[in-house]
Amino acid sequence: MTNIDGYHISSFKPSEILSEIFNNIPVLKCRYDDVFICAPVKSGTHWTWEIVSMLLNGKAETIPNSKGAQMLEATPTEIIDEIPSPRVLNSHLHLCRLPKEALEKKCKFVFILRDPRDLAVSYYHHCKGISLYEYDGMFENFLPLFLEGKLDYNNYLEYVVEWEKAMEERPEIHLTYYEDLKTNCIEEVRKLALFLGITCTDDLIRRISDKCNFEQMKDDKDNHIPEEVRKAIFRENFSIFRKGTVGDWKNTFTVAQNEYFDSMFLEKMKNSKLLRRYT
Ligand code: A3P
Repeated sequence: MTNIDGYHISSFKPSEILSEIFNNIPVLKCRYDDVFICAPVKSGTHWTWEIVSMLLNGKAETIPNSKGAQMLEATPTEIIDEIPSPRVLNSHLHLCRLPKEALEKKCKFVFILRDPRDLAVSYYHHCKGISLYEYDGMFENFLPLFLEGKLDYNNYLEYVVEWEKAMEERPEIHLTYYEDLKTNCIEEVRKLALFLGITCTDDLIRRISDKCNFEQMKDDKDNHIPEEVRKAIFRENFSIFRKGTVGDWKNTFTVAQNEYFDSMFLEKMKNSKLLRRYT
């Protein structure tokens, strides 16, 4: 992991991209119709990206492997510049590290939240499953890293608070909860369409929601990863589409870990309107 001025970010990201981001060089030209999917890592970025892309394309059809190509901190700017509109850019970077132009132009942002306990478990499997992290620790050692903000993109709570403040004055930010996508995907897709200003039929909304369900997406996406890429990046049996459930943390956290989580996060979550539902 690289540490740039106290900000942790994976060192396998291309160094020229990191230096652009951290030197605040506004190389990326934002377009008025860019949509940004932003979320803490493992909150359901792939899922939401797919839904938004399908809504913008007006088709319930998957485009293989293109979320990664539109991820700000993973893809060279020249490549992002070539992507035809409307782009569905995505990032886990803090709001203050996103291109200023995106805020000035009032681009649309979809912000996703997920129960931080489920996220911590998902993040643990992510770090273990992606070989570039070279991580082999136990969850009991991983949880403190997450709670103390020592993983990529630093502190989860600070990240959320920054977005929460921005949402108070920016109607161009739409919030989607992972758990709501799970319980009523059709309704959440409808809200996303409304937010994006897209008129679409109930039938298309239903088809997008079906096409983006967990099993379908796992099938569509995992089968499109070339074998050599899979071998270079993933450890055996790893998939971004691991379980896709709500409440999985209960199968992992011990009572002591739950108490530790509460001691570090609970009060702060109660003070956040956005996170209170998880307390
Ligand atoms: P789990 O590891 O808990 O299974 P991100 O896309 O931000 O990296 O988040 C990945 C998490 O979202 C993983 O969680 C993954 O399984 C889940 N996910 C991805 N697509 C999903 C879908 N269509 N339905 C439910 N969960 C999904």
